[in-house]
Amino acid sequence: MTSTTQLARSDVAERLNGVVPPVELAILEPLIDEIDALKRQRNAVVLAHNYMTPDIFYGVADLRGDSLQLARMAAEVDAEVIVMAGVHFMAETAKILSPEKTVLIPDTRAGCSLAESITPNDIARLRQQYPGAPVVTYVNTSAAVKAASDITCTSSNAVAVVESLESDTIIFTPDQYLGAWVAGQTDKEIIVWEGACEVHERFTGRQLLSLRDDTPGVKIIAHPECPPDVLAEADYVGSTAGMANWLKVEQPEQVAMITECSMADNVADLVPNTTFIRPCNMCPHMKRITVHNIRTALEDMEHEVLVSEEDARGARRSLEAMLAVT
Ligand code: 13P
Ligand code: SF4
Repeated sequence: MTSTTQLARSDVAERLNGVVPPVELAILEPLIDEIDALKRQRNAVVLAHNYMTPDIFYGVADLRGDSLQLARMAAEVDAEVIVMAGVHFMAETAKILSPEKTVLIPDTRAGCSLAESITPNDIARLRQQYPGAPVVTYVNTSAAVKAASDITCTSSNAVAVVESLESDTIIFTPDQYLGAWVAGQTDKEIIVWEGACEVHERFTGRQLLSLRDDTPGVKIIAHPECPPDVLAEADYVGSTAGMANWLKVEQPEQVAMITECSMADNVADLVPNTTFIRPCNMCPHMKRITVHNIRTALEDMEHEVLVSEEDARGARRSLEAMLAVT
């Protein structure tokens, strides 16, 4: 996994070797050739989140990373068209930070349970309840919710963002578990909204205890969207990019990645001597994106992601405040 590097098109077939079974390779290669030609024709890049399947991650993506890296790349990449191989809020973020570019999402149903859990009215009610407390909002939200907030954060900079604010009381939305994890690392009072990620909230501390019993010596690394009893059992907690970096440095003999299933596939090449123990959960939204619908998106220039001028202005302010922190 090279999370932020531009891939050379010529070595795509080589990269897919060993990543997908040979029988799939025969089907994928012409499809990826078509995508490459369309990318050149459209002056397009494919940005892929770390939870994409390996055929997309290794075969189709030009740039790859966690939410924060994708946001930065979207703002900086030199292309007319961005295809977001990720979920809708990531595509919206790309559009907000790069309004002059055409941003496409290959399947409009690629949502997020966190983004669904909160509205701008909820933010207004929280502000009434806790007057003067700034609102920190996870990027896994709609543009309208970002616009109603003071600053956004991702899982890789949430603590730094909270610490950057003067107030001793912070409203943190919408992920209650990420909020609780941040609260454990700051002296500030954190008021959390009760949203959760449908993928990470299903892991349990008990599951990890029995994993440790069954696999002595296993290292456990977890995403901060997991519940507190899960995070208490983890040897490392961090964003998807943070987990990849930790693996690269630590090179554990055995590891369990308590996160989305594709993550282990996409980091395996970083640690060839590591055995992956795989309790994992699949994100149904991320899995809406396929090599096939990426090809269709480029062919038909669909589905364009648009953000109203008003939401974009407010959301850009919140996103740029975050980017200025880290
Ligand atoms: P990262 O920012 O860690 O990539 O997380 C995004 C996400 O949706 C995790 O569920
Ligand atoms: Fe949303 Fe969870 Fe899927 Fe990430 S893994 S996109 S937080 S539902």
